[in-house]
Amino acid sequence: MTALLSHGMQVHSLVGQLHSHEAQAPERFAACPPAATRPPPLPPQNAQAPTLLGGLGEGGRGRSASASVGASGSALESGARWDGLSATIAGRVNVSPKRLVEPGPSDAQLHGLLQLAAAAPDHGQLMPWRFVLVPQAQRPRLGEAFVQALIARDPSATVEQIDSAREKALRAPLLLLAVACHGRSEARIPVCEQLVSLGAAVQNVLLGAQALGFGSGLTSGQAMDSEPLRALFGLQAHEAAVCFVNIGTVGKHKASNRVRPAPEEFLCVLGG
Ligand SMILES: Cc1cc2nc3c(=O)[nH]c(=O)nc-3n(C[C@H](O)[C@H](O)[C@H](O)COP(=O)(O)O)c2cc1C
Repeated sequence: MTALLSHGMQVHSLVGQLHSHEAQAPERFAACPPAATRPPPLPPQNAQAPTLLGGLGEGGRGRSASASVGASGSALESGARWDGLSATIAGRVNVSPKRLVEPGPSDAQLHGLLQLAAAAPDHGQLMPWRFVLVPQAQRPRLGEAFVQALIARDPSATVEQIDSAREKALRAPLLLLAVACHGRSEARIPVCEQLVSLGAAVQNVLLGAQALGFGSGLTSGQAMDSEPLRALFGLQAHEAAVCFVNIGTVGKHKASNRVRPAPEEFLCVLGG
């Protein structure tokens, strides 16, 4: 209960910090107009679009061939790097853990994925996140925490719901818990920046898994903030369980209906 309360306070203070930050530095947030007053997206033929995004034609290669010959290789190598990277990024889709089967990443591959996580940007080098590996032998304990969390919030949960909660812990071959640790900054680096670092670390792991040929998916839910889960993972007051990272071989492929937003939908031009 103490941990639950302290976590509740911590989440409260996280929101508070975001708000207080906003209050202290309104100019950082005032630049973007509210959605209702935001100008409509740039039409594809808008004269500004080619200027801004035109260099990203030809598969997105931003520079001319001569400009892209830099310290890190030839234009050909740069183009190949772009093609490989963009295929990996564009090819990643969220795969439900139900569709992830053995084999999962080997120990060496997991090590490589965690090295990619460590490449995430981290303002102030705070390491505002960590991962917890949940090996197969520990999955029943996680399943029990899911069950206890369910019963705590719904004492009338059915046997089917309880079995389903327990089974969720058993699915993916590789399971990592991503934990935000946002108590180490002494308010020097805003919490939202620390969460960006965690998101980048998670994404690096997902993309690494994709590059290795695995499928991956994130899961969360109401149990994340529950006392049984916090106790199982020994989370401290300044820590929050953000999501599980599930990785494995895609057993059953399913067409994704995810429509990716066009850049024009999330980009506006200051003063434009
Ligand atoms: C922090 C976080 C938690 C998530 N939790 C869940 C979840 O509990 N269940 C789920 O089906 N997807 C979850 N997702 C995955 C999103 O649903 C998924 O990314 C979204 O549908 C977009 O699909 P895409 O990843 O294929 O682009 C989560 C994503 C994030 C970033």
